[in-house]
Amino acid sequence: MAAYEPVLLKYANQPGMHTLEAYLSHGGYGAAKKALGMKPVELIQAVKDSGLRGRGGAGFPTGLKWGFVPPVEKVPGPRYLCVNADESEPGTFKDRYIMEGDPHELLEGIVITCWAIGANTAYIYIRGEFVKSARILERAVEEAYRHGAFGPNVLGSGFKLECSVHRGAGAYICGEETGLLTSLEGGRGYPRIKPPFPAVVGLFGQPTIINNVETIANVPHIVERGAAWFKSIGPAEDPGPKLYCISGHVKKPGYYEGPMGVTIRSLIHDYAGGMIDERPLKAIIAGGSSCPWIAPDKIDTCLGFESLKKVKTMFGSAGTIILNDSVCVVDAMWNILRFYAHESCGQCTPCREGTGWLAKIFERIELGGGREDDIATILDICDNMRGKTICVLSDAAAWPVQSILDVKNYPDAACFRPEVEAHIREKRCPMGKHAPTRAEGVKQHGRISPRLVT
Ligand SMILES: Cc1cc2nc3c(=O)[nH]c(=O)nc-3n(C[C@H](O)[C@H](O)[C@H](O)COP(=O)(O)O)c2cc1C
Ligand code: SF4
Repeated sequence: MAAYEPVLLKYANQPGMHTLEAYLSHGGYGAAKKALGMKPVELIQAVKDSGLRGRGGAGFPTGLKWGFVPPVEKVPGPRYLCVNADESEPGTFKDRYIMEGDPHELLEGIVITCWAIGANTAYIYIRGEFVKSARILERAVEEAYRHGAFGPNVLGSGFKLECSVHRGAGAYICGEETGLLTSLEGGRGYPRIKPPFPAVVGLFGQPTIINNVETIANVPHIVERGAAWFKSIGPAEDPGPKLYCISGHVKKPGYYEGPMGVTIRSLIHDYAGGMIDERPLKAIIAGGSSCPWIAPDKIDTCLGFESLKKVKTMFGSAGTIILNDSVCVVDAMWNILRFYAHESCGQCTPCREGTGWLAKIFERIELGGGREDDIATILDICDNMRGKTICVLSDAAAWPVQSILDVKNYPDAACFRPEVEAHIREKRCPMGKHAPTRAEGVKQHGRISPRLVT
């Protein structure tokens, strides 16, 4: 493992680092002062030059997104920054450690971002379950106001900026950027059709930038150390420091900081201590539950937006889940699908119905009720769920399923499909995970209709 000096979490694990005093002792808010002396266009250009890509899921270039905010002459009225701290993708748990360990790093990023995009109001939309993170952040926001980093005259620059923490109520869909906006406006967290994109028509109908916590936390470092420094870390097309989450069958699951582009092998063995009991790897979910699964022979792939695209998966929100040979493919997929069926907001028929049906069919297959035409039915449902809905939750539920069954479009499916076929053929779970009883399915998963557990 090459030497790497932490950037984002450099101080986060030191006691008391969540306080303003500790943050200032490391030169905190120096980057914000520097940024306030720059022109917004210069800042946007610096972020573009750095190559920073959004850490919330899609990997969209951050500077490019900021540049989409129209000039005030064209669209008058306020601009907003919404920091996406919803962090609900199964397998992802990185943003909370920034918020709890070094909240002022995020707040300083907010000051700089708001200056760059011309926003006088910032909201941090935080996952409802993150009670501890929210308390720490709220305290940090109060401290930042007292320090003059927020308020009517930010760090003596004359720039006005208000910032508040808004707690969600535990819905995964409120992490989707337009669902987040609707929820923040006081409505039910329903996503909206794009275009128009939030950068033009966002919160309360005004231009709005939505960025992930980790994305914003990178910004002070780019301002302080320069775009060239940032670009020199990791692969040129996907540069920068990165927080990796790793869970599943590894000895030391957790969050780790490294450069972008660490290989999956290195993440498992150098960072996470290797496979539990040295058992063989069965499947890799590289970036969180929505990502297509890949086979063990992809272990030397780099973790990055571009490199994972080449092996037909995604980096998503860097929630790597490692499955060993004790895992039943059908059982694991059923687990993922219950989540999506539960979290679909229900606005779009293909998503509302599709997620529910996929969960029900996988449940039935796992419990011994598989039918010959199930795989064809599943792939047909997936086909109807992709690219046909308001947001990509629907696609996100279909991708992993296709990746284990659709051999034509996902070559690695050849690795997983025979196990699903064996469940159907043998009318039982060959791994012995579930006894084929209707009662068990109903008892454990009462929310899924028992009608299909035959
Ligand atoms: C269903 C769904 C859930 C999402 N949840 C999150 C989340 O919890 N946190 C996050 O930052 N982005 C999440 N996203 C991505 C956001 O829509 C958006 O792309 C992101 O916040 C943009 O920030 P970035 O450019 O800094 O990555 C989610 C997307 C979808 C479709
Ligand atoms: S795709 Fe699903 S989650 Fe997204 S808006 Fe439609 S129903 Fe809601």
